[in-house]
Amino acid sequence: MLRTVAFLALVSLPCFAQQPLSRRVRDYSNSLAPYVSSPQQIVDKMLEAAQIKPGETLYDLGCGDGRILITAAERYRAKAVGVEISENLVKAVNETIRRKNLQDQVQVIHGNLLNVNLASADVVIIYLETGSNDLLRPNLERDLRRGSRVVSHDFMVPGWKASHVETLDAFKRPHTIYVYDMPQKVKK
Ligand SMILES: C[S@@+](CC[C@H](N)C(=O)[O-])C[C@H]1O[C@@H](n2cnc3c(N)ncnc32)[C@H](O)[C@@H]1O
Repeated sequence: MLRTVAFLALVSLPCFAQQPLSRRVRDYSNSLAPYVSSPQQIVDKMLEAAQIKPGETLYDLGCGDGRILITAAERYRAKAVGVEISENLVKAVNETIRRKNLQDQVQVIHGNLLNVNLASADVVIIYLETGSNDLLRPNLERDLRRGSRVVSHDFMVPGWKASHVETLDAFKRPHTIYVYDMPQKVKK
């Protein structure tokens, strides 16, 4: 219901309505969450909860401005891969990677996070929506090795059992972090 109202509000915007119908429908159907950055305090907490070690590989699926990738690389000496559907955000992340000279450690893929193979990930970070997590779940179950971790900001992964759940305040609202140890299996 909420998605329908949001969709109707979006398509009524003049800038949106000027695009060809095929583009509008495709853009909407591929989006699994709006762009909202995790506050740095929450980024720090998610990386701490993930217990990421130097040399491990972290994926941020829907990486926004890349702050999680940059923090993982600079503070934890991790390799970091972002996947982002917005071309403008990908350009901004690439600019930050160049400015900070992190090309050997951080890369960003422009595309749909549902189409990315995650077999090399030790840690996967997500800040999507519960329904989107449900769509992504089969990919995580298929690709992730034993011992890898999934950390989700604010939205649980339906059917999985979290090993750690923590709620803390940032920017005047509570944020919840869910940590999942792989493998996970949903009971049928
Ligand atoms: C809530 S923001 C989270 C940004 C960042 N991970 C953080 O926590 O600061 C969700 C991001 O996912 C991106 N996104 C949404 N659907 C996507 C898709 N299908 N493939 C890749 N990125 C997507 C959005 O453009 C947005 O930047």
